[in-house]
Amino acid sequence: METTLVLIKPGGVARNLIGEITRRVEARDLTVAGLKLILADRATVEEHYAEHRERPFFADVCNYLCSGPIVAMAVRGTNAIRAIRTMMGATNPLDATPGTIRGDLALSIEDNLTHSSSDEEAAARELALWFPEGMVS
Ligand code: CMP
Repeated sequence: METTLVLIKPGGVARNLIGEITRRVEARDLTVAGLKLILADRATVEEHYAEHRERPFFADVCNYLCSGPIVAMAVRGTNAIRAIRTMMGATNPLDATPGTIRGDLALSIEDNLTHSSSDEEAAARELALWFPEGMVS
C-alpha cells in the first residue's frame, strides 16, 4: 500500500475540475486519505519545487501555484504512486495520451492541472510538507 500526493493546481480549481479529477481518482479504486482546499504559501511552494530551483521556469511555477486556491490530496492504494502518475499523463499535456487527465483536460505545460509525486521518496517528502498535521485516515 502506498500514499501519494496530488495537487490540483489553480487552473484546475478555477475551471471547476476538482470533482472531475477526484472522481477519476476514486473511480480507479484509490482512496482519498486527506483533502483540503488551500491558498499555498510561498515558502511551502518553493520547498515543494526545490528540485527545480535552478530551472528557468522555477519562479513562474512558484508564482503560478500561489496564484489561487489549490487542492492538496493524499491518495492511498496499491501502487498508488505509479497508478496516479499514469492517470495524470505526460507533464506536457500535448504529449499526454487521451484518456489521461492531462490528455483529456489540459493543453499547456504551465497549466497542466495537477502535480503528483514521482516516487516513494518524493511522496514521503511532499506529504510531510503539505500535510504536516497528518492525514485523516
Ligand atoms: P509539476 O509536475 O507540477 O512539476 C513542475 C512543474 O513545472 C510541471 O509540473 C509544469 O507544470 C511546470 N513547468 C513549466 N515549464 C516546464 C518545463 N519546461 N519543463 C517541465 N516542467 C515545466
